[in-house]
Amino acid sequence: MAEADGTGNLTAGVIAALREARSVFVLTGSGISAESGLPTFRGVGGLWRTHRVEELASPDGFARDPVLVWTWYNERKAAHERAQPNAGHFAIAQLEDALDDFTLATQNVDSLHLRAGSRKVLELHGSLREARCSNCNAGRPLGAAGLPLDEIDHACGGRWRPDIVWFGESLPQDVWQRAREAAARADVILVVGTSAVVYPAAALATNYNRGAFVAEINPEATPISDRVACTLRGSAAEVLPQIVEALSRDETASPDLSVRPRG
Ligand code: OAD
Repeated sequence: MAEADGTGNLTAGVIAALREARSVFVLTGSGISAESGLPTFRGVGGLWRTHRVEELASPDGFARDPVLVWTWYNERKAAHERAQPNAGHFAIAQLEDALDDFTLATQNVDSLHLRAGSRKVLELHGSLREARCSNCNAGRPLGAAGLPLDEIDHACGGRWRPDIVWFGESLPQDVWQRAREAAARADVILVVGTSAVVYPAAALATNYNRGAFVAEINPEATPISDRVACTLRGSAAEVLPQIVEALSRDETASPDLSVRPRG
């Protein structure tokens, strides 16, 4: 395993692998949005350090106290709206523009990848753009402040819930299938800003493809660090733009990564 510090001394292996790659898969977690001011889950200041996951992110917790759950998700939704995509999100959108076979799967529900210009985003854990009825599965868009607390009950007898995946629930089948296939065919896998402890999402990093060059971008070590080809110990907003810049420097051998309006 090679290691780089993310301050300009990038592992040449990642750049070389990306230059050769026909297919690239990126898996992101909450760390990519940290530099947009959104807290992660498990690190210092992480949401699960001060909040009980079983109260806020489980079907049982929602059944017990839907007002508590919506109050929390409404605060998170408002924080997402205030946040802006950072250089890491933008760099990933540039990679998508430059590569024919590129897939981004995110565990995040904050929509910042879409706002940065990524078009095909597999949202493994759903998103906070919508609420869904727990009974009839109807959907409704969420405004910037989330769901008014006096509108939790749906006319069909069910309750509106955030359109996200909670612990104990299954990922959306089609989204999971597409993510798994993309991970399996990738020549390069970039794992960005995730502690890689929540399954099945974490399995996409290393479990479905024995031949890919896997690089982890994270200031901290994770359980997969010793199983990847390269760990870039820096923040997403520092390291990803460096990768994109390095790729675009050699115009003869790299994809066109120049910033340009969409054609
Ligand atoms: P975690 O909080 O578990 O991990 C965040 C990771 O981001 C850690 O490994 C940090 O070291 C890293 N990190 C922090 N700042 C970073 C930065 N600037 N650049 C790059 N990396 C940085 O969050 P997730 O892995 O996203 O699921 O958590 C996975 C799932 O657990 C979430 O989707 C959510 C949560 O419970 C559900 O709610 C179902």
